[in-house]
Amino acid sequence: MCAVNHWDHWIEEELRRMAEKDLTRELKMVTESAQPICRRRGKSLLNLSSNNYLGLAGHPQLTDAMREAIGRGVGAGSPSSRLIVGHEEETALLESELASWQESEAALVFGNGYLANLGVLSALLGRDDAVFSDRLNHASIVDGIRLSGATHFRYRHRDLGHLESYLKKADQKGIRRKLIVTDGVFSMDGDLAPLQELVYLKERYGAALFVDEAHSVGVIGVQGRGWAHELEMADQVDLHMGTFSKAFGVYGAYVAGRREWIRYLIHTARSFIYTTALPPVVISAIRRSLQLVRQGDLLRQSLAGKCRYFREELSRAGFQLTDSMTPIIPIMLGESSSAVEFSQRLVECGILAVAIRPPTVPSGEARIRFSLMASHRDEDVREAIRSIVQIGYECKVIG
Ligand SMILES: Cc1ncc(COP(=O)(O)O)c(C=O)c1O
Repeated sequence: MCAVNHWDHWIEEELRRMAEKDLTRELKMVTESAQPICRRRGKSLLNLSSNNYLGLAGHPQLTDAMREAIGRGVGAGSPSSRLIVGHEEETALLESELASWQESEAALVFGNGYLANLGVLSALLGRDDAVFSDRLNHASIVDGIRLSGATHFRYRHRDLGHLESYLKKADQKGIRRKLIVTDGVFSMDGDLAPLQELVYLKERYGAALFVDEAHSVGVIGVQGRGWAHELEMADQVDLHMGTFSKAFGVYGAYVAGRREWIRYLIHTARSFIYTTALPPVVISAIRRSLQLVRQGDLLRQSLAGKCRYFREELSRAGFQLTDSMTPIIPIMLGESSSAVEFSQRLVECGILAVAIRPPTVPSGEARIRFSLMASHRDEDVREAIRSIVQIGYECKVIG
């Protein structure tokens, strides 16, 4: 057999193995995906899978901002990496606005959240360092740590005793630089990081703390500043990361923190240095979105009310939920096949909510991950709950 056939054979086998375990993934076409109701193959589906929590991805002010930028002649794309040709004034304005919103000394825009985590972790950490990461942290954090080569202590989800035992172990090994990293909101469970306790441990063991607020900025806290601000502990977190791809409804990400740390990242974060800058039209939309996010306390209240109602009704019906306090509200179904079947039944009832399966979540913890938007109509949410409960009975998920 020639070498190419070895590859073909192996790929076919891998795909077959995934299909056997109900782990096949498909790319599906959809229209109006920024709206609370999207369309797939001509069918209207209530979108309960979107990270567009405030509904801003469909906001006319953001598309207006893009049109205005095009009108100023910025063109469609970026000329190069930021360190080569340079950036438009709007990028500098955005970074100072982000720093002021986050009440930090400086901020730096990245291409997206995945790149930000990859860049920060691989720049800060090296082989002699130790990193302490919650087991449910996002894949981009795991990948950034792998790239860094640092000693990786993966502590059990929100288990502070476990984390502390690892911090002690690192001290015994004489590791000097220690970094604790956590999602603010865990993306597949919707629960919150115990930041007060993490700050206590970081100080006790002389570590630094990096918080990924991808799912909390825009959604939590006054002016949508995120979970660390809500707890009034933002100044005790060394580095904050947030994305523009979720509540902001655009694309891209930022890191905020002390000026020298940001300067260091400009020199060392390879996913910042060796990639083309975000197009200026995108920067313009992000700036407009930041204004809307800061003014969006009423949107956040409306979203929180819908989430409370949704959680209470599903819990009352007997579904197994997580400790979610956010718009990410999963129902636990166990096996991948159950989650796939549940998701298909939801589509038949006009609801888009995908089955989340391994390796995105641990084996045996497949689920439907619902996520709510401020722009969902109350009557649509009520109707969706009725369908979910009905399917729950039919699939014998609830008794
Ligand atoms: C916790 C977390 N961090 C980082 C990311 C990556 O962000 P982005 O989609 O901007 O690449 C995501 C989502 O995809 C996420 O859920």
